[in-house]
Amino acid sequence: MAWMLIVGSLLLAWIASLCKIFRGSSSSFRNSFLNTGGALRKRNVLLVVAHPDDESMFFSPTISFLTSKGHNLHVLCLSMGDADSKGNIRKDELYQACAILKVPLQQVKIMDHPDLQDGFGRVWNHTLLAKIIEGEIMSYGIDSIITFDNYGVSGHCNHRDVHYGVCKFLHNGPGNKIDAWELVSTNILRKYSGPLDIWLSIIHVMQHSGEVMHFLLNEQPQKSFLAMAQHSSQWVWFRKLFVAFSSYTYVNTLRKIKYM
Ligand SMILES: *[C@@H]1O[C@H](CO)[C@@H](O)[C@H](O)[C@H]1NC(C)=O
Repeated sequence: MAWMLIVGSLLLAWIASLCKIFRGSSSSFRNSFLNTGGALRKRNVLLVVAHPDDESMFFSPTISFLTSKGHNLHVLCLSMGDADSKGNIRKDELYQACAILKVPLQQVKIMDHPDLQDGFGRVWNHTLLAKIIEGEIMSYGIDSIITFDNYGVSGHCNHRDVHYGVCKFLHNGPGNKIDAWELVSTNILRKYSGPLDIWLSIIHVMQHSGEVMHFLLNEQPQKSFLAMAQHSSQWVWFRKLFVAFSSYTYVNTLRKIKYM
């Protein structure tokens, strides 16, 4: 009996959370992310990821938020994801996913650098990453940057190196002109709590009032699903499950990266 009650309550909470998301609740939280410099200033934002599909699997609430607010989003993907020799296919899949996510294709850049190849145990040179990131920032007049935190959601070393590359660039000295944000990695329980994580994210943000954080709800999780489906070579049953149960499909918590 008890377990039925627990499963029933979880199901109800899941449905209630989905309703909250679909009813456009981020407006009720008056989200001011990237909206500090006066009314409707449009930002040039650079999202830095490691592999094709990181954007759809982890960052889609952020991407949807930015495009819906009319910010100008650039995506820098530092590898073609060639660990299984499918790099060329995965590159095209990333363009298709970006089309779904409404990121202009000429603002999507995919690197294929010999020293930055996809794979566990491949160490990426932080100085090289910082140099590449700096080039993008200069070319496009970027004023805000978004990337992984030092755990990188899944703990993948390429995600973590991307974080350190961004930090190295920031440390080398763009001054204080660049706003930098990292995607907060959550514990495993929250990671697979699907839309329920919106409540846990609110509690998390309240408990860490000393840090500057924003949480962004995805009002169109079905779009994330569709974007992820463009990555056909990766679209196997366990990733479908992942996208349905992952909190990163429904909500992103972004924390400001502090630097001098
Ligand atoms: C890392 O990259 C920088 C810049 O490209 C280069 O000067 C340096 O030698 C590289 N370090 C290693 C250990 O490969």
